[in-house]
Amino acid sequence: MYHITVVSLLPELIKPVSKVGVLGRACDEGLFSLEFISPRDFAKDTHRTVDDRPYGGGPGMVLKYEPLRDAICEARKRIPNGCAEYVLSPRGEPFDQSLAQKLADGPGLLLVAGRYEGIDERIFHGEVPNELSLGDFVLSGGELAAAVVIDTVVRLIPGVLGHKDSLTDDSFMNELLGYPQYTRPVKIDEMMVPEVLIEGHHQAIRRWRLKQSLGRTWLSRPELLKSQNMNAEEKSLLDEYIEELGRKNPKN
Ligand SMILES: C[S@@+](CC[C@H](N)C(=O)[O-])C[C@H]1O[C@@H](n2cnc3c(N)ncnc32)[C@H](O)[C@@H]1O
Repeated sequence: MYHITVVSLLPELIKPVSKVGVLGRACDEGLFSLEFISPRDFAKDTHRTVDDRPYGGGPGMVLKYEPLRDAICEARKRIPNGCAEYVLSPRGEPFDQSLAQKLADGPGLLLVAGRYEGIDERIFHGEVPNELSLGDFVLSGGELAAAVVIDTVVRLIPGVLGHKDSLTDDSFMNELLGYPQYTRPVKIDEMMVPEVLIEGHHQAIRRWRLKQSLGRTWLSRPELLKSQNMNAEEKSLLDEYIEELGRKNPKN
């Protein structure tokens, strides 16, 4: 079983990810566990204070060191050795599919969600030096970021998705964006499903999907193709895609 423990002041923002859909089923089947530790339970005063004003002045409050440190120590007791540990933070390492795969290959994950204007910096010195960012924007707290990380990682744990091809065809699993998908009916509002998908020739479908993935990546995320060592088939499929696009939009 894969173990996830989240240190958070607002676990109710994260809990729903393990209750419904693919993750809900995986949790019921015992493929992963999710538990929460609140720094508030480790506050020493009667008001259970976990925040205080920032030294040097400025707006907002800062998450205090001691209750967070004690919550992290407690969290560590509940996860197996070798789990990755991260504080969610906008200044952290960017989270992406290849990191998600590395995390899913391990025994579990300890995540720390920040709140307020931030966390007392000393947490990063000794307790959890690794920071993980969801992107170049600022959330009100790390909980939604943690929920995204948990969803992304858990669906990569063997057995969570019914069919292993569901994963290999995903965007980013091979550094390409996903190909377009269709379902019934064949014709709707004058829009048709591409013929090749209806004819059912596996090789032709594979080539069409690869061409679409390459083409969409070229259009939306060309930088991903730079790291891609394209083979001869991929190069010729991308040329075909670009030529077909030019025929559809002669202005291109
Ligand atoms: C309001 S933010 C604090 C932002 C901080 N003042 C700064 O500018 O870096 C509160 C918490 O939300 C979380 N957070 C905000 N944006 C995030 C992002 N892009 N990725 C991951 N966590 C984020 C972090 O845990 C952070 O401690």
